[in-house]
Amino acid sequence: MAAAAAVVALACVLSLVLSAQAEAPYRFFDWEVTYGDINPLGGVPQQGILINGQFPGPEIDCQTNDNLVINVRNRLPQPFLLSWNGIQHRKNSWQDGVSGTNCPIPPGQNYTYHMQAKDQIGSFFYFPSLAFHKAAGGFGAIRINSRPRIPVPFPPPADEFTVLIGDWYNTTHKLSKPCWTTGSCCLPLTPS
Ligand SMILES: *[C@@H]1O[C@H](CO)[C@@H](O)[C@H](O)[C@H]1NC(C)=O
Ligand SMILES: *[C@@H]1O[C@H](CO)[C@@H](O)[C@H](O)[C@H]1NC(C)=O
Repeated sequence: MAAAAAVVALACVLSLVLSAQAEAPYRFFDWEVTYGDINPLGGVPQQGILINGQFPGPEIDCQTNDNLVINVRNRLPQPFLLSWNGIQHRKNSWQDGVSGTNCPIPPGQNYTYHMQAKDQIGSFFYFPSLAFHKAAGGFGAIRINSRPRIPVPFPPPADEFTVLIGDWYNTTHKLSKPCWTTGSCCLPLTPS
């Protein structure tokens, strides 16, 4: 009897150790970045930046500690770089996508970001960090859900949806860039 109890206790300890060591799941993404004409909310159509043909870009829906592997293929004729706003990148700052920590992805080439949403929960977003691309699109939401084994002190929400808010200008990001960098002119917002 005592031996059986000892075996059960050992099995419990082993399973705890194994579950603590189990690697968090991997989520793989393959993104193609292109230009395409868009007119968000019925505004003036202009050249936007799409990811897999979408504006805003695809939502990353993941769970705390998931490993994210995101292959970004740049099909713009300019260098492109994505930054992951709010993701902590512990000991991993070279994945942050800010110019200076990451080289831009050259036109026609790709780069694969490897990162982990370590011990984080919440709503975040990604955006292009170079050349005012973010004024033209290329951004999207990151949702990091809590792990089921970690209780939250409220009932599950009835529904969830993501809201991304941004300005949309009457000129392309290329034409409006000099206005932003010099502050010399005032840009009309697109009528909608
Ligand atoms: C580019 O994409 C290919 C597959 O589409 C992949 O095998 C390769 O590792 C990627 N290169 C980089 C630098 O991410
Ligand atoms: C915005 O662009 C449209 C179409 O090109 C033009 O008709 C309109 O006058 C512009 N609005 C402003 C405030 O510049």
